[in-house]
Amino acid sequence: MRSESEVLFDDTPFKIPVAERVTRLPPYMFGAINKRKYQLRVDGVDVIDLGMGNPTDPPDPLIVQKIEEALADSRNHRYSVSNGIGNLRKEVSSRYWKRYGVRLDHNDEVLACIGSKEGFSHMCLALMGPGDTAIVPSPYFPVHVYAVMLASGNVITLDTREPEKFLQNIAYTCENLVPKPKVVVVNFPHNPTATVIESDFYVDLVKLAKKHGFLVISDFAYADICYDGYEAPSFLATPGAIDVGVEMTSMSKSYSMAGWRIGFCCGNSEMVRALATIKGYYDYGIFQPIQIAAIVAMRHCDAAVESITTEYQSRRDVLCEGLTRLGWNITPPKAGMFVWADMPEAWKHMGSIEFAMKLLNEGGVAVSPGRGFGDDGEGCLRLAIVENSQRLRQAVRQIDKCLTKVEAPA
Ligand SMILES: Cc1ncc(COP(=O)(O)O)c(C=O)c1O
Repeated sequence: MRSESEVLFDDTPFKIPVAERVTRLPPYMFGAINKRKYQLRVDGVDVIDLGMGNPTDPPDPLIVQKIEEALADSRNHRYSVSNGIGNLRKEVSSRYWKRYGVRLDHNDEVLACIGSKEGFSHMCLALMGPGDTAIVPSPYFPVHVYAVMLASGNVITLDTREPEKFLQNIAYTCENLVPKPKVVVVNFPHNPTATVIESDFYVDLVKLAKKHGFLVISDFAYADICYDGYEAPSFLATPGAIDVGVEMTSMSKSYSMAGWRIGFCCGNSEMVRALATIKGYYDYGIFQPIQIAAIVAMRHCDAAVESITTEYQSRRDVLCEGLTRLGWNITPPKAGMFVWADMPEAWKHMGSIEFAMKLLNEGGVAVSPGRGFGDDGEGCLRLAIVENSQRLRQAVRQIDKCLTKVEAPA
């Protein structure tokens, strides 16, 4: 038997057996690119970062002023309520009414989340367990897949780029999978592909949900970022939608408040309650000054939402026109914060990860490789329009230079 000090000072490495739910997660596809991006920055390279949908523009000054005031009030430094303060939930409910004609009971059908990503992830935990399956749009925003996996559910990815076909494939899967899928995730305007739909899509989706008994989670993070007069429909505005699902919205993009971590889950009261139960165990809610400033944002800052959308639209034009001039096959998005671009034919052999690494190393421009959004994303790149127009023009010049430095291999 070993002595106490032999046990204490034993230097054989201590094994940390983390849970299988952690070990079975695949390696993070953007890991290598992000690491390289940070290294280049440390080395003094001015990387033009179109990698992540992380707004660089500040929120409206009124929002910042309100949080400063709220910070000065000592009562706002205590734990808040997990599901969000009443006035905030009322404001969200009133916004849904004004914008979409949807009536929501702020007590039972609205919940504040620490960003919609947190709400989405915990909703998966609230709805799913071993043996349950979720249909997820593909190419996929990674959390749509990994939140289901972390909840021990199975994932079926279906290409969402042709919404009619997506619906047909949902129907086919429901008719043939045993047991049937429990959850269907939809995300329009879609990240990463910018695919959009009209409201009749949701009518068909609700019909399918009722026929096959699945629940719907609509990720509506880009609700307000629409161009050329397009208006993204809310899933909840469809008759019967509230019987079968919820919608996640976010203040990250519309109000440039990504770092603040505030979003909402609205809709079916049983689903909202299940999420509230999980959150009640896990967290104490969003820092109260953030909630108070968010009320002011929604009440008084519509003009800021319009102005940021106009700005994104002109950046979209700059980037799309620039890449088209280089000979890229580009469809300008009608919504969202991303240009989803086909890789130029001459470079397709390389694969999107290697190509994105080339643009970063030799062009100083960071983009997201389509492969990071699953196999269906291969051959494409996602470029976030988060840098200003001047930087986007510069990005196009740098991409051009990097790709014409040597002849593209045949
Ligand atoms: C489709 C989609 N859903 C959710 C999120 C996360 O939003 P939030 O900042 O509210 O967590 C993002 C952020 O990029 C997104 O693209």
